Amino acid sequence: MLISIPDILGKQEVADFRRIMDAHVWEDGRSTAGAQSAEVKQNDQLPPDSKVARELGNRVVSALLANTQFISAAVPLRIFPPLFNRYTQGKFFGEHVDNCVRGDHLTGMRIRTDLSVTLFLSEPDEYDGGELIVKDYYGDQRVKLPAGHAVLYPATSLHSVTPVTRGARVSSFFWIQSMIRDTHARRMTYDMDLAIQTLVERLGRNDSEVRSLTNIYHNLIRNWAEL
Ligand code: NI
Repeated sequence: MLISIPDILGKQEVADFRRIMDAHVWEDGRSTAGAQSAEVKQNDQLPPDSKVARELGNRVVSALLANTQFISAAVPLRIFPPLFNRYTQGKFFGEHVDNCVRGDHLTGMRIRTDLSVTLFLSEPDEYDGGELIVKDYYGDQRVKLPAGHAVLYPATSLHSVTPVTRGARVSSFFWIQSMIRDTHARRMTYDMDLAIQTLVERLGRNDSEVRSLTNIYHNLIRNWAEL
């Protein structure tokens, strides 16, 4: 289950991120990789504990929490401090596993990684290659989104980034522990919310059936949520 969410960041904000990131020193991306993924990872990363990464990460988290589509799709309990990476020509990340649990020693946060997120910070025409490939039930999904857009996918999926053959692919990536652990349950609440929002536009929020469906939506989350 992949969900694309447009316009998490506006174009001005993306340009501001890129300006700040370009002025900093990057390190080898293997510093945050697990044992399996370190063998297939070739990219650069902003040092995860650096002030710049933390400040930009906080801006990403604020933008996410203000985005109703993101909240509905992820039902987030915890968002891992966002990381930032860059693939220049020849860089790639072979097929790999994301660690099931991650800890952040600066904040003490510990999360079960239910969802992986890539927030694109380069426009698709700035680079060739660099597609995110996610293996899901329906086959390989290839993802390359406009700058400021994000894709959410189950952290349980094997995934990779194809080699960049021109330009640079810059992105933020991080993980989420959702209140709803089960991917399919989360998908149902998301689809139901989308359908309810459409009905609200047609019938108003206080139509009796809309009210009833809204109640069911909340009861499903009440039933499944782990806090
Ligand atoms: Ni990964």
